[in-house]
Amino acid sequence: EAIEKGGYDHFMLKEIYEQPHAIKDTYRGRLRVEQGIVKMAGVDQNLERFLNANRIIIVACGTSWHAGLVAEYIFEDLARIPVEVEYASEFRYRNPVITDKDVVIAISQSGETADTLAAIKLAKEKGAFVFGICNVVGSSIARETHAGAYTHAGPEIGVASTKAFTTQITLLTLLALKLARESGTLSKTKFHEILTEMEGIPAKVERVLESNPLIEIIADVYKDAENCLYLGRGYNFPVALEGALKLKEISYIHAEGYPAAEMKHGPIALIDEQMPVIVIATKKGHYEKVVSNIQEIKSRKGKIIAVVTEGDSQVRDLADHVVEVPESSEALSPLLTTIPLQLLSYHIAVMRGCNVDQPRNLAKSVTVE
Ligand code: G6P
Repeated sequence: EAIEKGGYDHFMLKEIYEQPHAIKDTYRGRLRVEQGIVKMAGVDQNLERFLNANRIIIVACGTSWHAGLVAEYIFEDLARIPVEVEYASEFRYRNPVITDKDVVIAISQSGETADTLAAIKLAKEKGAFVFGICNVVGSSIARETHAGAYTHAGPEIGVASTKAFTTQITLLTLLALKLARESGTLSKTKFHEILTEMEGIPAKVERVLESNPLIEIIADVYKDAENCLYLGRGYNFPVALEGALKLKEISYIHAEGYPAAEMKHGPIALIDEQMPVIVIATKKGHYEKVVSNIQEIKSRKGKIIAVVTEGDSQVRDLADHVVEVPESSEALSPLLTTIPLQLLSYHIAVMRGCNVDQPRNLAKSVTVE
């Protein structure tokens, strides 16, 4: 096992560090900047189904559901296709309205999650075209769907999902870009710009990973917290949800993710000097709005840990701690802002003596209801 961990203390840490490589493996062969295209066989063969879709319904569970939420922003923003994101477990039992004009995208790392599998079967019965995004090759979901694409993240052993999440987002972004270009909702120039930016993401993730020692110091300050709040807006709202889930899963600290502006409708009542609030406050995407949310937290004495864009000074002046990420478009920012949150959860869990790779009561793959 020590060999499998490749010198890391835990699989989770190894998998966090594998992300630059894993993201590259996801877009390799698909992202073709020189040709100005995105190649995805499963999409090319079914292009009409996608282009004629009334809407896309994404079904998934857990972290994969969070990737679906990020995709909702990307698809609507770039490809202008209406998207709904559903927990597979709810979707399967609520007699959903689905027609043969709908495209259902099922996202699953393992490809074996029972609820997601059942949602796929239901969608197929109702005539929808079902596209799978899985990591495990030949898995049940990969076999059950009409077409699909693999994330190629490599085996993920840690129960808390890390590289599966970022590679799912990478793949969903490629899909959105492809559809946006094919349908003409995205200009050639903008398309090219995002493709080029995507190629630079692995190097930027490497840079975020360099903040690991700083994040370890922050983790030491907050390791005894009983509650934690995660806030983000736009594309980074689902990242806040995922950050909170990571902390809950492996450190057993109660954590909630919220859209930053919703804070005033409830969670703000919880903020006092004991409450660490992790805020994603990158430059592109509602920056000024997030800054005013940070001011609201500060005036209630909450402790602020902010994920900011390199060189930021405004939030730095307000926050107790900042972790910088390289500049990026809002659309690709989740691939960067997620990383510090993974590392923060990891270090807190280790410091609390938790079993990081196999947290209590959780399974890597939930194959029963
Ligand atoms: C379990 C795992 C999570 C995962 C979820 C969905 O709860 O612990 O990490 O996100 O299942 O799994 P899937 O394999 O369908 O992505």
